[in-house]
Amino acid sequence: MKHSGAFEVDRADRAGGEVRHQMAEIFADGFSQWLTYFSRDRDVIVNAFAHMFVLDQFYVALAGDRVAAFGACTDCRSFSLELQSAPLRRYLGWFKGSMAALILKREFQKPFVDPPSETGSVEFIGTALSFRGQGAASAVILHMLDHLPYRNFIIEEVADTNIPAIRLYEKLGFTEYKRKSLSPKQARRSGINHMVSLCLEKA
Ligand SMILES: CC(C)(COP(=O)(O)OP(=O)(O)OC[C@H]1O[C@@H](n2cnc3c(N)ncnc32)[C@H](O)[C@@H]1OP(=O)(O)O)[C@@H](O)C(=O)NCCC(=O)NCCS
Repeated sequence: MKHSGAFEVDRADRAGGEVRHQMAEIFADGFSQWLTYFSRDRDVIVNAFAHMFVLDQFYVALAGDRVAAFGACTDCRSFSLELQSAPLRRYLGWFKGSMAALILKREFQKPFVDPPSETGSVEFIGTALSFRGQGAASAVILHMLDHLPYRNFIIEEVADTNIPAIRLYEKLGFTEYKRKSLSPKQARRSGINHMVSLCLEKA
């Protein structure tokens, strides 16, 4: 394990303990805009989605036995999340569980059309509410930049309204290389105008 500021950063499958459950709690709090349709009960969301983290693709920043932040980095070919219908239906009910499997798979397991080589895809960065603003997400990303053997790193489709995330990525040296406009209808519904993609080439 490496010490990054106040946090120990390790791959999630090596961190042991309750990491999956704690990651699901961070996910429920940080990605709620995708989830409220399925349930407004945080415990239900935690139980329904805890199965989906592919732990060897994730890194966690630990403060003792607490997961302060997490993030994934894939080779642009594998997925960091794998949604399964059975646990989604068990906790969300048959209809919403099936909808979650269908809709969220499209959002969260989007394959790269032409996956770039020597490139890590940084995905699903999230910090527990009580650890926000303390460098936990930065520790996770810096660990990935230091330890993973990619020449380039990309972060796909960050909402232009997500100022904390964009500031975080830019502070660590990522720059915008692409932006996609949402349709006027999608923009009205979500308040998001563009999805921004960022990249960083390792020196
Ligand atoms: C975005 C997020 C991961 C940041 O995590 P964090 O651990 O609080 O970030 P850090 O403490 O490492 O912050 C590093 C830098 O990010 C920027 N930043 C972080 N939070 C910010 C905020 N609320 N407003 C503006 N800038 C912010 C700042 O530049 C900060 O540097 P500074 O502390 O020197 O000002 C966190 O807010 C979160 O979990 N959000 C919900 C999930 C999400 O949107 N994930 C990103 C999906 S693309």
